[in-house]
Amino acid sequence: MNEEENGWSQSAPAWIESQGDNGDFSREFVLDPAIDRIMAERRFDHALDVGCGEGRFCRRMRTHYGIGTVTGIDPTEPLLAAARKHDPHGTYLRAEAEALPFPEESFDLVVSYLTLIDIPDLAKAIAEMTRVLRPQGTLLIANLNPFITACGGTAWVKDGAGRKQFVRVDRYLEEHADWQAWRGIRILNHHRPMSRYMTLLLEAGLRLTRFEEPPAIGGPPAAREAYNRVPYAHLMEWTKP
Ligand SMILES: C[S@@+](CC[C@H](N)C(=O)[O-])C[C@H]1O[C@@H](n2cnc3c(N)ncnc32)[C@H](O)[C@@H]1O
Repeated sequence: MNEEENGWSQSAPAWIESQGDNGDFSREFVLDPAIDRIMAERRFDHALDVGCGEGRFCRRMRTHYGIGTVTGIDPTEPLLAAARKHDPHGTYLRAEAEALPFPEESFDLVVSYLTLIDIPDLAKAIAEMTRVLRPQGTLLIANLNPFITACGGTAWVKDGAGRKQFVRVDRYLEEHADWQAWRGIRILNHHRPMSRYMTLLLEAGLRLTRFEEPPAIGGPPAAREAYNRVPYAHLMEWTKP
C-alpha cells in the first residue's frame, strides 16, 4: 500500500510537529520510560526500527541505549526526509515491513514502535521481522491495545456534565481498517483482535519473554489520570529461539 492510500505522506508535516523532540504523550510519559527500564538491563549492537517515521526512536537508540548500528525503514518519504535531516549520518531506507531489504539474521534487536496498526499485511510483516532477527535476538513491540483500536481510539462516553464515564468497545473480534483524524493528521489504522497478533507471533516461532502495560508516569495530570484509567498501549518482548 502506498502512502497516498494510507494518508501518511499528506499527514507527515502535522505528524512531525505532533512528535516534537520527545514524542507525544504516550511516547514521552508511558512507553519511553518503560523501554528505558528494559534497555538498562540489555545490550544490543545492531537494531532495526520498522516504521521509524521521522526517526526519533532511532536517534534515541543510539544516544540513550548506546546501540552502535541503527537502521530505520519506513515507506513514507517525507518522514524519511525529516529523519535524514535530523540525523544526516543515520541509515534510513524506504521500505515496507512486509518486504524488508535485509538478509536473514541481520539484527539482534528489531523494534516496532506503534506501527503494527499501520501495516496492512500483518502476517507478512511478522514473518519478515522474524526472518531478519538473529537467534536469541529480541523483537520489541509497542502496540495500541485492541480494545482501543476496535472503536478507532479512546472512545470515552461522557455524562451530561461532560465527565468521562467509561470507554466504548465494539466490533472487537472483527478486523477492520478505519480512517483516523486528529490535529491535521489523517491516517488509515488497522484493528485486529489481540488473538490475531499473538497467534501470528507464536506461529512465527517466537517466545514471549515480557509483557507490560506501563502506566503513565508524568505529563499533565488530567491526561495522566485519563490514560491510567484506560491505558491504550502495551509493550511486548519476543525472543527468537
Ligand atoms: C504511528 S507512526 C509511528 C512512527 C514511529 N515508529 C514512532 O513511534 O514515532 C506509524 C509509521 O508506520 C509507517 N508505515 C505505514 N505503513 C507501513 C508499512 N507497510 N511498513 C512499515 N511502516 C509502515 C508510517 O509511515 C509511519 O511512519
